[in-house]
Amino acid sequence: MLICSKRGWELPESAATPEGVYLNRRALLQAAAAVPLLVGPFSQAFAQQNSAQQTSVGGAARNPRYTLDRPVTGEDYATTYNNYVEFGSQKSIWKAAQKLPVRPWTITIDGMVEQPMTIGIDDLLARMPMEERLYRHRCVEAWAMAVPWTGFPLKALVEMARPLGSAKYLVMTTFQKPEVASGQKQFWYPWPYVEGLTMAEATHELAFISTGMYGKPIPPQNGAPLRLTVPWKYGFKSVKSIARFTFSDQRPKSFWEEIQGSEYGFWANVNPEVPHPRWSQKTERMLGTDERRPTLIYNGYGEFVASLYRDMEGEKLFM
Ligand code: MTE
Repeated sequence: MLICSKRGWELPESAATPEGVYLNRRALLQAAAAVPLLVGPFSQAFAQQNSAQQTSVGGAARNPRYTLDRPVTGEDYATTYNNYVEFGSQKSIWKAAQKLPVRPWTITIDGMVEQPMTIGIDDLLARMPMEERLYRHRCVEAWAMAVPWTGFPLKALVEMARPLGSAKYLVMTTFQKPEVASGQKQFWYPWPYVEGLTMAEATHELAFISTGMYGKPIPPQNGAPLRLTVPWKYGFKSVKSIARFTFSDQRPKSFWEEIQGSEYGFWANVNPEVPHPRWSQKTERMLGTDERRPTLIYNGYGEFVASLYRDMEGEKLFM
């Protein structure tokens, strides 16, 4: 996320580098104390496809229920302009991300379930109902894209996992492999990347696990072999390269919330009326173009999801 010390609207988009690591005071002090020589660069620094991958994305039929109000973003843009801090804090991490081995890939399902399990990615995919969906994506940094994702409804995985009735949250955790993901050697980040949804969100029809995009297996830089896709929330909720699904009765503290809780909260629903503390959220730039569009509440998915948040006036739903 944005690491810049200037307010977002004072920067050209091209300079608004990765979502940002705007370190909280505790982490900064710890890091500075441990590695004094690195203090200078903090303002910046914070600031192959695996050939064995055989995801059956080609034949998945498009679900016509989910339509776009804008052109699909060019594949070249969506796959080369990424946020993936495990591989660096710039947008151009796509080459570095090819180091991630996406086969074999084992997924652990644990916590408040009838029976914890581990399952290989291909065995999991064979059990899931695959389809293609066109979804908008809105990054908290105010850029947006529209992508044909292939994958399966998260609800199908939840049903397979058989959570206990007492489970309230689904926590999703990225792999931990500092030997291939050099960003994970940066000890001031709270690795591994973690995100969470309530059970109502996780079983909502829009919550999707993407395993492909543009009719092909999803590339490592976009979150191979499986990533969350929740289009009504800011992009940082869409955790990439998930290795663990944990059911819990405790609300998790997510990666960005841990780093800068005053800017990145649990709910993170898109809302143009609630600015980020450092920039406006009123408009968004379409990736690969200079076009700016007005941002829509719930990223345009209000008719699907607004009812999830009824009677939650006390919550900070939009950060
Ligand atoms: N997941 C992991 N593990 N690490 C990350 O840095 N970045 C998030 C999200 N998921 C991130 C992540 C952010 S901030 C965004 S906007 C989207 O991934 C970007 O997805 P894209 O690169 O496919 O556009």
